[in-house]
Amino acid sequence: MSTILIGSDHGGYNLKNEIIKHLKEQGYEVEDFGCYSTESCDYPVIAKEVSEAVLKTANKGILVCGTGIGMSIAANRFDGIRASHCTDTFTARMTRMHNDSNILCLGERITGTGLAIDIVDIWLKTDFEGGRHLKRINMI
Ligand code: RB5
Repeated sequence: MSTILIGSDHGGYNLKNEIIKHLKEQGYEVEDFGCYSTESCDYPVIAKEVSEAVLKTANKGILVCGTGIGMSIAANRFDGIRASHCTDTFTARMTRMHNDSNILCLGERITGTGLAIDIVDIWLKTDFEGGRHLKRINMI
């Protein structure tokens, strides 16, 4: 099974830990890029590290902050990153099928743990459809 690259700031630290626990139980390898406590830190630093590692390894990434928005804005500054901020399972599925999303962004202050884990599972298990959608993501 592939390695999942994951990171958070302090606002996403607790949800990140729940996701790591779940992913390990499912048999995934997980590489945690921090942060490592609820002490205040800067989400763009973590977004950069995870984005660069996703581009280098072609593994998928997950970024968690308070809302998921700061992480998605920061990650999408990297050419080749298609970071998707999801708060429901429909968009998690569609962003894999149509956008070949390579980073999932979640907000700990927005999405409860149970729903967040469903979003993660669907996002990881859904394949990109390719075809006309490949042409479109190549236009970005
Ligand atoms: C931190 O307070 C918060 O701003 C951050 O986690 C995130 O929500 C930013 O978008």
